[in-house]
Amino acid sequence: MIKVIRSVVAVVAGLMLTAGAVAGSNSVESINERLKPSGSVCIQGEECAAASGASASAASGPRSGEDIVGSYCAACHSVGVLGAPKIGDAADWAPRLDNGFDTVLANAIGGLNAMPPRGTCGDCTDEEISAAVEFMTK
Ligand code: HEC
Repeated sequence: MIKVIRSVVAVVAGLMLTAGAVAGSNSVESINERLKPSGSVCIQGEECAAASGASASAASGPRSGEDIVGSYCAACHSVGVLGAPKIGDAADWAPRLDNGFDTVLANAIGGLNAMPPRGTCGDCTDEEISAAVEFMTK
């Protein structure tokens, strides 16, 4: 019975979608909204992808180094809490960068003394941490 009702809704919505193409995006959105419970509307590139966490971040792309630093790293690295090298302070970074960017990056990912692994950004990809380190060391 519910299936029948859903089919009717889908058909009606489909008709509205066809007939009302000129009615503006609002009505298309509301139709999509109503179609969702049928479980068959998941158009590539549309928001239903956000329902599955993993692909959500993939879909929105990597966050910029600046964003990561602002959200996760600045708390310690802006003023140098616990001896953290300061953002954009060449003198703080030079001796560290002497070990090579890869080493510095590995320490950012794995943690180093009071520096927590991934700087507390648990869901940051290696790529995002790398962008953040690049941003901080410049
Ligand atoms: C809780 C404070 C804290 C947060 C948050 C934090 N850091 Fe750090 N970080 C430190 C401290 C302290 C050090 C210095 C560690 C040492 O040399 O003993 C450090 C060192 C580093 C280094 C130098 C590693 C090396 O090889 O010398 C990098 C790179 C780094 N942090 C990146 C980041 C990034 C990227 C973030 C954000 C995603 C972040 N940190 C967030 C405290 C923090």
